[in-house]
Amino acid sequence: MKKMGTMEIVKGKLQIGGMDLEDLAKEYQTPLYIMDEAHFEQTARIFTENFQSKVFQGNVLYASKAFTNIYLVKKVKELGLCLDVVSGGELYTALKAGLDPQRIYFHGNNKLAKELEYATEAGVGRIIIDNQDELTLLLGILEEKKLRQEVLLRVNPGVAAHTHEYIQTTNEKSKFGLSIHDEGTKDVVRQMVTSEWTDFRGIHCHIGSQVFEEESFFKSADLMIGYAKELEDELGIPIKELNLGGGFGVYYTPEDKPFELGAFLRRYVAHIEESLSEAGLEPESVDIEPGRSLINGSGSTLYRIGSIKHPMKGDPFLLVDGGMTDNPRPAMYQAKYEAGLVSRPDAPSEQTYTIAGRACESGDVLITGAKLPKAQVGELLIVPNTGAYTYSMSSNYNRIERPAVVFVKDGQARVAVKRETYADLIRNDVE
Ligand code: LLP
Repeated sequence: MKKMGTMEIVKGKLQIGGMDLEDLAKEYQTPLYIMDEAHFEQTARIFTENFQSKVFQGNVLYASKAFTNIYLVKKVKELGLCLDVVSGGELYTALKAGLDPQRIYFHGNNKLAKELEYATEAGVGRIIIDNQDELTLLLGILEEKKLRQEVLLRVNPGVAAHTHEYIQTTNEKSKFGLSIHDEGTKDVVRQMVTSEWTDFRGIHCHIGSQVFEEESFFKSADLMIGYAKELEDELGIPIKELNLGGGFGVYYTPEDKPFELGAFLRRYVAHIEESLSEAGLEPESVDIEPGRSLINGSGSTLYRIGSIKHPMKGDPFLLVDGGMTDNPRPAMYQAKYEAGLVSRPDAPSEQTYTIAGRACESGDVLITGAKLPKAQVGELLIVPNTGAYTYSMSSNYNRIERPAVVFVKDGQARVAVKRETYADLIRNDVE
């Protein structure tokens, strides 16, 4: 198991943020989401310090779908990031955390009327329009409220990034955005430019998630710049903003070979600058929207082993007190993770286990082929690299309560989200 962030072994036991994990488990119970706050701050700084240019303003927007709550948005605010939200609920969380609405970018491929009303009234910085119907809906709302809104259009540059097909977003069958190869897309831009209710700022794309080839990012930047140039020439309007999305791949297991973030970002900026100069474009800003690469490495999930079971065939099971309800990614995307035993993180591996959860579902397996020292019932197991798309995709299947989220730093723990109770589970049930 690779040690992430502030993980260190003290007297043979694993600590994060200077906190003993056994102490955390006693205080907050398991399963438990643990966030390494210093690691998150450091990663955010790598983004803000390296996505900088002399030619354009480089904005880093955290894609809050990866993991959000009030505590996290307050950190986003403190670290000077902007925020990408995709629903009224994410917007509500951001506003409750006191984030300046101007720093909020509202995405989504089928925004509801009530969400567009909420976002425009709140004064969000940008709304990223996905399609013609959404634009018609927004224009109606803005006209009725006599509000003017800054907007971008999400386009699909048609780059097939190498990632799981569920998280590819710019292949030709994608439901997101409008194709740059469809002439009709320019009509939508024209409406945004001519309407008195919208201030058209530019275009957005996001090529997919967990992408490792930097060529895919460079290629999509080139295509976006090429398209921006086409719009400028044909429609006679300046493209002030280019938003190139997120998707930077991260480490889960040794199979993943992520690029070194700081160096990659510097190469990315240099590539964008060159491509802009070739096209003769001078946008005011270029945005990126990392979610996973900003938060994933900062999160770990702590479980307690409840049972070790030897099936008639195959590897023995380590049955833990969580599973697909706190991390549906293995079941949904065949996602892979590493694991370790908290009290002996460096002991040699002796046994191959299947680590399974407690949901009534055979597919509730977190890790297959996990190589660990011989585990014991009652021991704590840690799964690192669970910061992104775990808590945010968790469920109450089997009426299992969602775990707490605890931020740790410098020997202190702060609860960001309380563990759900049975009462929480029935709060909307009508008797
Ligand atoms: N911007 C847009 C418009 C997006 O749709 C996404 C992710 C991001 C930014 C952030 O992408 P990231 O940097 O996190 O890769 N649930 C899936 C991932 C879905 C990603 C959806 N969009 C998973 O667990 O792998």
